Amino acid sequence: YDPTAADPATTTAEEPPILPADRHTGCPFDPPAELTALSDKPLRRLRYADGHLGWLATGHAAARAILADPRFSSRYELMHPPLPIPGMPQELPPAMVGDIIGLDAPEHTRYRRLLTGRFTVRRMRRLTERVERLTTECLDAMEQAGPTADLVQAFAQPVPALMICELLGVPYADRERFQSQVATLFDQTADAQAKGEAHTALLRYFDELVLAKRAEPTDDLLSDLTTSDLTDEELAGIGGLLLAAGLDTTANMLGLGTFALLSNPDQLEALRADPGLAEQTVEELLRYLSVADPIPRAALEDVEVEGQLVRAGETVTVSVQAANRDPHRFPDPDRLVIHRKATGHLAFGHGAHQCLGQQLARVEMTVAFPALFARFPTLRLAVPPQEVPLRERSNIYGVVSLPVTWDEE
Ligand code: HEM
Repeated sequence: YDPTAADPATTTAEEPPILPADRHTGCPFDPPAELTALSDKPLRRLRYADGHLGWLATGHAAARAILADPRFSSRYELMHPPLPIPGMPQELPPAMVGDIIGLDAPEHTRYRRLLTGRFTVRRMRRLTERVERLTTECLDAMEQAGPTADLVQAFAQPVPALMICELLGVPYADRERFQSQVATLFDQTADAQAKGEAHTALLRYFDELVLAKRAEPTDDLLSDLTTSDLTDEELAGIGGLLLAAGLDTTANMLGLGTFALLSNPDQLEALRADPGLAEQTVEELLRYLSVADPIPRAALEDVEVEGQLVRAGETVTVSVQAANRDPHRFPDPDRLVIHRKATGHLAFGHGAHQCLGQQLARVEMTVAFPALFARFPTLRLAVPPQEVPLRERSNIYGVVSLPVTWDEE
């Protein structure tokens, strides 16, 4: 491509395109056709739903460059208004104190330093046995209640939820107090008031929990963090964010990933034949499905990207799903190929904000997928694939439910 060439969408229609609001318009695993049509140029002008002009990055190199560049800010207030994510309400609640994902250096660096050491590969691998036990428990319950199940309720949600609760020191039995709040925070159709209320409720829950951990520390991350210089308010904010990030992300990868593997029986067969391919399968599923998308940024100063000048104050939407399907980076990108080397995908973001929980998510998925398919060798969809309900307007894509069945022994 020639990045300096005239943008056909701008010149012919004389109007930059609007980012498609719906995640899927055909195959449940592929980016919508409108987005693919915009991917011929790595970076292009974009008209946001609220009318303002910004940029859309679909090329892998452009996306990576933007995410690695501290001149692109993550601060919500710079994108509000205007807001870069289509379908988002016009008014966002203020960023939470301790909201690591929406801050820039140096505030971001301070939180990040405190947390990275607690999420290392080594520490997360040590959790493997615990993940295996929780996975087995969920599979036992699913098998007993079977031979049909909603895989989301029975498996995809509880495994990561139990794990993040245990890690943080959040009682899983309290989930009525946080599960729907977290869902509202990720729901693009929820209005500002609903999001604000969900935020407040989540923070109130964590305020109580932080007090309890300070009074009586237990063996978990939240108690451990009470020994740092974080204030109670910061601890509650960080706790809420970690819980939200841990509840709804891996769960969607497990649900949608199972759907994708069942829809690609040759790939599933290859994984079954060689469970040693689990780690590589997980990377490929992360690339292929890109459930956390898009990532918004705002330029703090004029920055040149791919020969184009993004001006200070302009918003940029980094399309993870488009970047992960960039044919310049991943040959034959629309095929799920578990043997490929999918490393370098941007499903966990890139740069200073790259996903803190990625090693935990990897451990969970590397254990859960093979265990599921080993337990149910005849696992299949219980409805036609087009009837599987999808999460259209959520910052985290996935299946709402996944009805499955299997032959009993
Ligand atoms: C950041 C994706 C699992 C905690 C991110 C970002 C992405 C992402 C794309 C970067 C956002 C940005 O640059 O603005 C995912 C996916 C997951 C997953 C696809 C599952 C497969 C988790 C889990 C946790 C977690 C299990 C729980 C601990 C975080 C945190 C950040 C983050 C705290 C913010 C890091 C920072 O701003 O420095 N994640 N995530 N994630 N993720 Fe995850």
